[in-house]
Order: sequence, then C-alpha cells, then structure tokens
Amino acid sequence: MTQMQPTDLHPQETAEQHAAFNARIARGEKIEPGDWMPAEYRRQLIRMISQHAHSEVVGMLPEGAWITRAPSLKRKTILIAKVQDEAGHGQYLYHAAETLGATREEMLDALLAGKAKYSSIFNYPSLTWADVGMIGWLVDGAAIKNQTMLAGCSYGPYSRAMVRICSEETFHHKQGKEMIVTYAQGTPEQRQMAQDALNRWWWPSLMMLGPHDADSPNTGALVQWGIKLKTNDEVRQEFINEHVPELLEAGLTIPDPDLHQDESGNWIHGPINWDEFWAVVKGQQGLNRERLGARQQAHEEGAWVREAMQAYTARQMGQAAD
Ligand SMILES: [Fe+2]
Ligand SMILES: [Fe+2]
Repeated sequence: MTQMQPTDLHPQETAEQHAAFNARIARGEKIEPGDWMPAEYRRQLIRMISQHAHSEVVGMLPEGAWITRAPSLKRKTILIAKVQDEAGHGQYLYHAAETLGATREEMLDALLAGKAKYSSIFNYPSLTWADVGMIGWLVDGAAIKNQTMLAGCSYGPYSRAMVRICSEETFHHKQGKEMIVTYAQGTPEQRQMAQDALNRWWWPSLMMLGPHDADSPNTGALVQWGIKLKTNDEVRQEFINEHVPELLEAGLTIPDPDLHQDESGNWIHGPINWDEFWAVVKGQQGLNRERLGARQQAHEEGAWVREAMQAYTARQMGQAAD
C-alpha cells in the first residue's frame, strides 16, 4: 500500500503552500480551522479524531454495564461520573472533527455501519467488578499517555480538546488505581479478582497504543506534521515504565514472563500477540458485534429526541420569521 507523504502534492496544492505550512509547523504554531492546510493533513486528522471520538463513545459500554451492579454508593457515583465524562469526550472530539468539514451524521453513520474503527480495547468483555478498576488504571492510563502527547499536536481544536480531556482522564486513572490497590490489599478473594483483571487487561492495554513503529504506515507523516509528537513504541515504553513499578508495588504479578528491566531502566516487554490485536480490530474476535449492536439500538431509541429537536428548531425559526 502506498501512503501519501507530507511532501506529496494534491492537485491545486503548490510546493510554496506546503513550504509555508511546514514552516508554521516548525515554528510550533497551531493550525486553526480556517487556515490553509494540505488535503492529506485534513484527511489524516479527520480519520484520527473521528476514531478517537468513536472510542470514547464505545468506551462507555464495558463500564456502563457495571453501573447497576456497583458494590457501594461511592463506587457507583464515581463510575457514573466517569462514564458521563467519556460521553463528553466524544462530544469535544466530534466537534473538533467537524471543524475540519466532517459532519456528525457521516461520522456516526460510519460507526454504526461498522465502517469506522475505534480502539480495539473496547471489544474486550468486562467480566468482573475489578475490571472497572483495571480499565481505569490501565486503559485510561494508556489513553492519558497518548492524549498528553496529542495535547501538544499542531491542530488547535484537537490540541485544546485534549488538554480538557486529560484533566478528566487523570481522575479516571486515579480512581482505578485506588480501587485496585484497595482490592490487592484486601481479602484473598479480592486480591485474586484484582490479579485476574490484570491478567486479562495487561496485554490489550499494551496493544491499544497501536502497532510497532515499523508496522505503523501513518506514523511518518503524522510525526512530520506535528500531529503525533511521539511514536507508538515511545508512548508504550512510557506507559510500561510508569505502570510496572506501581503494579508490582501493589503486590500484583504482571502476566509477562519475559518482562525485565534493561541497563537504562526501561521495562522491556515480551512479544505482543498482534494476530489477536488485528482479529479484535477487525471484529473477528471479541465483542465488536455486541458493541455496534448497542450503539445501533441507542441510535434508534434516540430517534424521537432528534425529531423533537428538529421540530422545536423549525418552530423557533417560524416564530422568528413571524
Ligand atoms: Fe475519555
Ligand atoms: Fe477515561
């Protein structure tokens, strides 16, 4: 597959335009919605931001399933707040993609039709209550690493959405860690539940940061345009270095017999099962069908809200015209 490179020119784009654009990126300027930008820069951003928005919305499902079964009022209110935050993140991100000319309808249609991707991690089932804590600690933890990087990205609306989202993700991460540390120090059953959750979420969390750099065809262009400031492997290394010591300190065992520290202090993981990753991304494994089914059902059940809003707007406009 040949990938578009930042130096490739679309018809009607000139080398001068590209040079001026690249100079803005090099100066660290933010690119704003009305500014000139290469068509490929716009396309890559719409692809990334809409995937990101879908991930936030689909990401509500594994945890939302536990709201009615939370073991205490405190845990329930925390979880409700977290799931609601994820809906808000979806909103910010759909808005950011809209500033590039994508419409909300086409993005949602692509998701509901199964044509759009979202993060593979949300196709894994949340089997026990401890999964809610482990998702907060590891999945939100991995998301923060990625999103902190994106907060520095060259596209203004995406960068600003990330700043806002990261402050909420930090709360998600803390509540997850607090929950798992509490269970890891609790009864033998609670400890076992925390360990079991780690066994199932560790590898998917490493995978969610994306394929290795050598297998990531978009990375070169995204780094050159200041959309990604770090590669997948760099972000994954940061995530591992931060989380391994904390998980070990909590008394948990990381399910990777090859995990070790090198001379420079980096924690080095064993081989990742990329066949599983791609099978989950493509929906051949995991809960892709169930997740899309839940979104489709929600969309159909919300039809009356959209109709009511349209009728209300039409009436307001009619009154304004009178
Ligand atoms: Fe989020
Ligand atoms: Fe989150």
